[in-house]
Amino acid sequence: MRVAIAPSVLSADFARLGEQVHDCELAGADRLHIDVMDGHFVPNLSMGPAIVASLRRATRLPLEVHLMVERPAQFFQPFAASGANSLIAHVEVTDDPRPWFDEIRRLGCHVGLAIHPQTPVERVSPYLKDLEVALCMTVVPGYAGQVFLPGSVQRIRQLREEIDRLNPSCELEVDGGINLNTGADAVSAGANVLVAATSIFQAPQGPAAAVREFLHRFRGG
Ligand code: DX5
Ligand code: ZN
Repeated sequence: MRVAIAPSVLSADFARLGEQVHDCELAGADRLHIDVMDGHFVPNLSMGPAIVASLRRATRLPLEVHLMVERPAQFFQPFAASGANSLIAHVEVTDDPRPWFDEIRRLGCHVGLAIHPQTPVERVSPYLKDLEVALCMTVVPGYAGQVFLPGSVQRIRQLREEIDRLNPSCELEVDGGINLNTGADAVSAGANVLVAATSIFQAPQGPAAAVREFLHRFRGG
């Protein structure tokens, strides 16, 4: 299975964002991951549509927006209009995410559903057949730089088994504490998209070299 690398700009140097994103693109990153936080669903604040609009002008990479917010639907249109390619909202903030899917597709974006590490995997099962991406959080969302939760491996396996059965074209993305080692555990368990903030943007060797190391490790390039 081809593994895609998605640098998360949450750990970038925002004064040099364009340059760092350009470095990731040239190094071969597959997409950019943009973490949106509202201070309610998670305790932290981060980015809004203005950053996505700036990134849209700075890179040709697909932009995926991870909405860690209590009311994601009110932000679908502004992020789509800013140039997002995928919108990923959390299953925990709704009783039924299906109305989101139609709206996101109407806006021309791919549909993603994210699951918090403390939420039973069964909670996303009914929707897997409708998704382009299932995002398995591997830390409690809110901050970059946390440690990959080891219990994630079994959750990834379970999701992979269900995705293979219900919708094999759905991507299985992991997010939180991903580096070359935890990424390898996640890929062995069935993940095919790796999100990484700290291990790319805070890498001593710089983001371009870090992306190349991920590609070398997971695609043999
Ligand atoms: C966590 C965010 C992640 C975060 C990952 O709340 O959803 O995307 O940026 O950061 P690292 O890779 O540092 O764990
Ligand atoms: Zn994220």
